[in-house]
Amino acid sequence: MPVTDELMACFKEKFGSEGDIRVYFAPGRVNLIGEHTDYNGGHVFPCALSMGNYGVARKRNDKTVRWYNMTYPDNGIITADITGLSPEDNGLWYDYQLGVLWAFMQKGYEIPCGYDMVMISDMPAGAGLSASASIEELAAVIARDLFSIDVTMSECAVIGQYSENNFNGMKCGIMDQFASAMGKKNNAIFLDTDTLDYEYVPLNLKAEKIVITNSNVKHQLAGSAYNERRRQCEEALKDLQAVTDIKSLGDLTDDEFDSLAGNIKDPVSRKRAKHAVYENTRTIKAVSALRSGDIEAFGKLMNESHISLRDDYETSCSEIDVLAEEAWKINGVIGSRITGGGFGGCTVSIVKNDAIEEFKERISSVYREKTGLEAAFYIADAADGARRLL
Ligand code: GLA
Repeated sequence: MPVTDELMACFKEKFGSEGDIRVYFAPGRVNLIGEHTDYNGGHVFPCALSMGNYGVARKRNDKTVRWYNMTYPDNGIITADITGLSPEDNGLWYDYQLGVLWAFMQKGYEIPCGYDMVMISDMPAGAGLSASASIEELAAVIARDLFSIDVTMSECAVIGQYSENNFNGMKCGIMDQFASAMGKKNNAIFLDTDTLDYEYVPLNLKAEKIVITNSNVKHQLAGSAYNERRRQCEEALKDLQAVTDIKSLGDLTDDEFDSLAGNIKDPVSRKRAKHAVYENTRTIKAVSALRSGDIEAFGKLMNESHISLRDDYETSCSEIDVLAEEAWKINGVIGSRITGGGFGGCTVSIVKNDAIEEFKERISSVYREKTGLEAAFYIADAADGARRLL
């Protein structure tokens, strides 16, 4: 049975079949390159996935929201009152949705009533593929449609980020929500996070596929380490602003950074800033390589990105390093790197079609041997962003 039918059947069973019941979807994302640049005024290059969170919803005539999540049936039906919401930081799936409703209201939009909703996910959570942004954009697209709120999808991305920053306490950048809200089939999004200017870039891969490998190491504690990286970049920026007129690390070229780096007092913050600046340059170069059909150059930049995240930004972990470094040894692998916030999660690799089976077999067996863990693989399908389906 298609997932939307399953959801609808479950909704009718839990909440009754009368009235205007609508179906929505919001995707996860994979970032091809441009990691930890989005809170440093740099560029990112993610695409939305065909995996994500589905939701079926119907307006209520009071201020209550009721959810049932088929992915977490043990949670039962969760009920919340949307009047007088205040920030939480326990990061459960419904907190991300409450956060979005709160953010709409903070920004002056009216949420006139609550709704009943059943949802289901077909993507792994805690794997660096932005399951949380997918839930936020699902909540945003539902509110926008159910309550006829006059916002664009890129504003929905900003609202999602605002809610995660201020309601859930995770100081994330805009990349994940933007990719989930604005994804386009067969395209990646080249986004300047300073201005929110973006361009869709077709992923015309004929002889290769984008393969996501899940380490199955959950990025626990990632929130605090992430916020710490962000703080270190801010500290580095402050030291640089004492000697030069810049708004963000994304304003610097590699050479400019090299000549100014000595002004960053703390050596750890210096390394973090170096990653942010160089990664931004790599992202710009990678997109122009892709546009000119030079996938090999794109792959090399992905590998450099991984090394920088491993050594300078220190957001990789030993399990993820096994996945990337083993991938580099395989002939048909064009490039491979950690993707997302880090400290576990997934790698993203570009693999020649005829090497995919060997890739899966070899990575699985070496990963099992070295870590005792099982890897999982998904072929990434660049897909459309959050939307109403029915
Ligand atoms: C997480 C954040 C994003 C971004 C990435 C790292 O996914 O939510 O905003 O900073 O990490 O690139």
